[in-house]
Amino acid sequence: MPKPRSLIIALAAASLVTGQETTSVKLPSGDNVKTRPLVRDVFGYSIEPIWVNAYTETPKASNLLASIASITGKPPPIRVGGNTADQTYQHATLPNGRDWDVVRGELSTVQQFNVTPAWYGAWADYFPPGTDLIYSLNFRANESDWANAVAQAEAVHAALGSKLKMFELGNEIDHFINKHWRGADWGVERYIDQFRNLTGQIVASDWYQEIPESQRPKFQAGVFADPPWVPDQHDEIDDFSIENLTTLATDRSRVGGLVEREQDKALIGSYAMHLYPQSTCDTARCPLAKRIPVRPQVAAADRAGAPLVMGETNSVSCSGRSGISDTFGAALWTVDYVLLGAALGLEKTYFHLGAQSEYSAFTPVGYELKNETLEGGIRPNWYSHYFVAKVVAGPTDTNVNYSIAALGGEANSSSLSGYAVYSGVAEKAKSHLKKLVFLDMGVWNGTEGLGNPSTLAVTDGTMFSEGARPNRTLNIATSWCAGSNAIVTRLLGPGTNAKSRVTVSGVSFDPESGDMLGEETTESVKVGKDGAVTITMRQAEAVLLEMEDATTCGETLPPTSDAASTNIYGNGVLALVFSMMGLLLLM
Ligand SMILES: *[C@@H]1O[C@H](CO)[C@@H](O)[C@H](O)[C@H]1NC(C)=O
Ligand SMILES: *[C@@H]1O[C@H](CO)[C@@H](O)[C@H](O)[C@H]1NC(C)=O
Ligand SMILES: *[C@@H]1O[C@H](CO)[C@@H](O)[C@H](O)[C@H]1NC(C)=O
Ligand SMILES: *[C@@H]1O[C@H](CO)[C@@H](O)[C@H](O)[C@H]1NC(C)=O
Ligand SMILES: *[C@@H]1O[C@H](CO)[C@@H](O)[C@H](O)[C@H]1NC(C)=O
Ligand SMILES: *[C@@H]1O[C@H](CO)[C@@H](O)[C@H](O)[C@H]1NC(C)=O
Ligand SMILES: *[C@@H]1O[C@H](CO)[C@@H](O)[C@H](O)[C@H]1NC(C)=O
Ligand SMILES: *[C@@H]1O[C@H](CO)[C@@H](O)[C@H](O)[C@H]1NC(C)=O
Repeated sequence: MPKPRSLIIALAAASLVTGQETTSVKLPSGDNVKTRPLVRDVFGYSIEPIWVNAYTETPKASNLLASIASITGKPPPIRVGGNTADQTYQHATLPNGRDWDVVRGELSTVQQFNVTPAWYGAWADYFPPGTDLIYSLNFRANESDWANAVAQAEAVHAALGSKLKMFELGNEIDHFINKHWRGADWGVERYIDQFRNLTGQIVASDWYQEIPESQRPKFQAGVFADPPWVPDQHDEIDDFSIENLTTLATDRSRVGGLVEREQDKALIGSYAMHLYPQSTCDTARCPLAKRIPVRPQVAAADRAGAPLVMGETNSVSCSGRSGISDTFGAALWTVDYVLLGAALGLEKTYFHLGAQSEYSAFTPVGYELKNETLEGGIRPNWYSHYFVAKVVAGPTDTNVNYSIAALGGEANSSSLSGYAVYSGVAEKAKSHLKKLVFLDMGVWNGTEGLGNPSTLAVTDGTMFSEGARPNRTLNIATSWCAGSNAIVTRLLGPGTNAKSRVTVSGVSFDPESGDMLGEETTESVKVGKDGAVTITMRQAEAVLLEMEDATTCGETLPPTSDAASTNIYGNGVLALVFSMMGLLLLM
């Protein structure tokens, strides 16, 4: 690797000669900065219950997750949930003599996932120490007042103990009418009744009452797939939204929300929504809504006193789409999606994992798919996680969070996206610019790293961009002191179409073991007069700039919290245009 500073000088010189694109970026200042907390475990995973065994039978996932924890100080949060959560039935023993069994019907679709109480214990200690776990109970099975879910809650808590932070009641409950799991009257009002009944039973249980109060698992409420404005398989009522769930009776004529009763409010640790920006399950949802108003949902959760999370998501629904979900383009999209979500107030984002899904960031073992034999492996979007870990890492005091703001202007376009990370959020006077992230979202199809033995070869790129890969020079006006150094970390890939040879500043991961490989290359850039920073990045690349020490000179930037904004989400920052496949991933 060339020495960083000389590289930058060389690029700057080249850009002068060739007239390469130069972009000037201004940072917001003073009261214009709208930030939200950037928590260290902003990036998590949601594991489909039937795939938990596959993921926990090899050390790969544990090694990968531990590598994140070693950077951020906090392992990624894990939610065990998904469609098969509402197909999970607990039995004392199973006919196969094991602690789990998948019952499949026509076309191998899962009909039931049967487990014994011992199943939870089989994976309870798999995840790195300090991992927060969420477990989704079967809410569909309402026989005997949810006796199945009540038994699950006790058994999963017995196995996981204080690692179990929250339960969910069901998965994507707004699809329950469509799946014939609820009647035509299913909506917020019925949900609240049933939420109160099931949580009431769990909370009243002896085992729950015996847990010290501070360690009692809470509940992640909501868990909606498609908010009313998304053109999905519309159900009769379709009133599930965080706003409707949390309104006070005084705001509505018919009923109060979940926060109406103090005992319910105290039980709710967070609210969750799900989103797959590209949906291929059915034609009705393709193309999906392009403008998703997240801010009103965030504002509603803020008013209700609990954070909102993106509880299950990925690029393309119904297990993903090879050629999009498993490319470096999707990796850049993933970084943008998590950071924009955080800037808008989605505290955490959980990416869905299935051991045989085309969108999974990593897969544990090989399998047959669409007439190809795939190996277990690591896809480019794993590197998004490692890059985001570098973005959130820093605060050693666990009571302090960084905060994040999306940049506007030139760094808010379909080809360039930018974020500013500040240290401190509550103590405004001490807040200052700590890091900057830029993503070049232009499409550049390279000729290297086209295949990955864990993905379908039939979707490997066959169209290539011509000429030299373009690059752009960013001139950023920062509040950093002249003469100080900013450390540079890059998310690098051979092209938007690449499925392998992705690194974070030279670091890669062994696709078999999940062990980290290689040394991180060091690169830094010196801050010029008045905080000017100049850096060059190639098309389809992400770069993180981080101030080495926490001191600023001159003016400090006092971010303000943006708790109650009602702006519309859908600003085009996420408009990563996948011209390949002719699909738009818009949010
Ligand atoms: C209980 O579940 C059944 C089918 O799963 C459904 O038809 C019924 O509406 C549910 N009852 C209530 C009160 O939600
Ligand atoms: C749940 O509903 C049943 C009737 O369907 C009732 O008997 C029971 O008391 C309720 N439990 C709670 C905790 O609300
Ligand atoms: C809230 O519920 C009403 C029905 O009561 C529905 O018409 C509306 O679409 C819902 N609004 C949101 C934002 O979910
Ligand atoms: C797999 O191979 C069979 C038999 O050659 C063929 O009928 C089928 O269309 C192939 N499936 C895919 C997804 O290519
Ligand atoms: C930091 O974020 C965590 C959530 O991950 C929260 O519990 C904690 O209160 C936050 N700390 C501050 C100082 O805001
Ligand atoms: C980014 O641009 C969109 C319009 O395309 C706008 O709504 C949004 O507020 C902008 N974001 C910032 C941080 O300026
Ligand atoms: C940047 O782009 C220019 C023009 O295509 C080219 O001459 C130069 O080599 C590029 N630099 C890098 C590092 O790719
Ligand atoms: C990149 O490759 C995809 C196919 O993988 C193709 O659809 C797209 O047109 C190409 N785009 C460019 C800019 O080369």
